[in-house]
Amino acid sequence: NYYAVIMAGGIGSRFWPVSSEQFPKQFHDMLGVGKTLLQTTYERFRRVVPAENILILTNEKYLDLVLEQLPEIENDQVLTEPAMRNTAPCILYAAMKIAAVNPEAVMTVAPSDHWIENENIFIDNIQKCYKYCSEHHVLMTLGVQPDFANTGYGYIQYDKQKQDDDFYKVKQFHEKPDQDTANAYLEEGGYLWNAGIFIWGVEQIIEAFQKFQPVMYTLFAEGADLYNTKEERGFIDSRYPEAANISIDYAIMEPSDNIYVLPAAFKWNDLGTWGSLYKELPHQEDENVAINAQVVFQEADGNIVYGAEGKKVVLRGLSDYIVVDHGDTLLIYPREKEQDVKTLPGKFKE
Ligand code: GDD
Ligand code: MG
Repeated sequence: NYYAVIMAGGIGSRFWPVSSEQFPKQFHDMLGVGKTLLQTTYERFRRVVPAENILILTNEKYLDLVLEQLPEIENDQVLTEPAMRNTAPCILYAAMKIAAVNPEAVMTVAPSDHWIENENIFIDNIQKCYKYCSEHHVLMTLGVQPDFANTGYGYIQYDKQKQDDDFYKVKQFHEKPDQDTANAYLEEGGYLWNAGIFIWGVEQIIEAFQKFQPVMYTLFAEGADLYNTKEERGFIDSRYPEAANISIDYAIMEPSDNIYVLPAAFKWNDLGTWGSLYKELPHQEDENVAINAQVVFQEADGNIVYGAEGKKVVLRGLSDYIVVDHGDTLLIYPREKEQDVKTLPGKFKE
């Protein structure tokens, strides 16, 4: 009854030039471990659910990449989207498809591009949530202890009084607050970051869509009989592009009032930027990080260098920079401006 749904359709634009719309970060070996982020995520879930209960959600243009990187997966386990519409529509699509064969199913929805340490704890946490959600009709999310006022995350305000086992009732979910609000949340306390990993019964999430996103619900529910038949492709191709472009966080998590949170006991990083990678990877002398490339640092500190396997690179007299050599592109950019990296691809003429 347990399913895992891995979302692998985002672009990862702050990891340019390695990540691009043609070849997003989840399909790269960002950590230099010999496996792509998608493969690592898949293997993590393989330890919790059988291969046939893992679905991959992605844009149709990445289908070949997914099949190539996950040879164990069958073609019909990859749900392809004909348009980029953010995470709400793809989650509803997956829930409908699973519900059509197994209405009792409980699904985990997870991003394909996160860094997670202590996998055993992760697996233990997910199993707890599967069990809780098969016994209670709630929406579950995993929360991470915040360590600074990051505006790129969702914030979960939870009720310390209302606890069931290790799960806390969520008072309010706030997606990506502005800087002042995020500062105030940290000051106030009682908030967790949303890790973007959700667990719920397929019936519960479909019900939530019916309540809070009725237009989208109808769009996908009208084909309830077509899922897992020959008609599914045509139905999705005609309906999907009509869905609103909205994330699950705004569409469902903010308006819902039956959310519980499990504070995650594992170490987590969403690997959103070059700086987040810098933080998690082992530092050499002078706090430098090198991925794949063979790098000599001289009078250089606090740099992160990403290059092709075996590429020889020398940095001298440079500090706190991102240096990326990838294909036909070379990036040399101050680490403190990492958020601006996403604006760079647009600066070049095709
Ligand atoms: N299949 C599919 N289709 N996947 C998508 C799409 C899409 O259209 N858009 C994004 N994704 C995938 C991304 O590849 C990523 O794995 C995941 O969905 C989350 O999307 P992001 O775009 O990375 O979301 P975010 O980081 O801005 O915010 C979410 O994650 C944060 C934690 O990392 C939210 O859930 C926040 O609340 C949360 O704190
Ligand atoms: Mg993300």
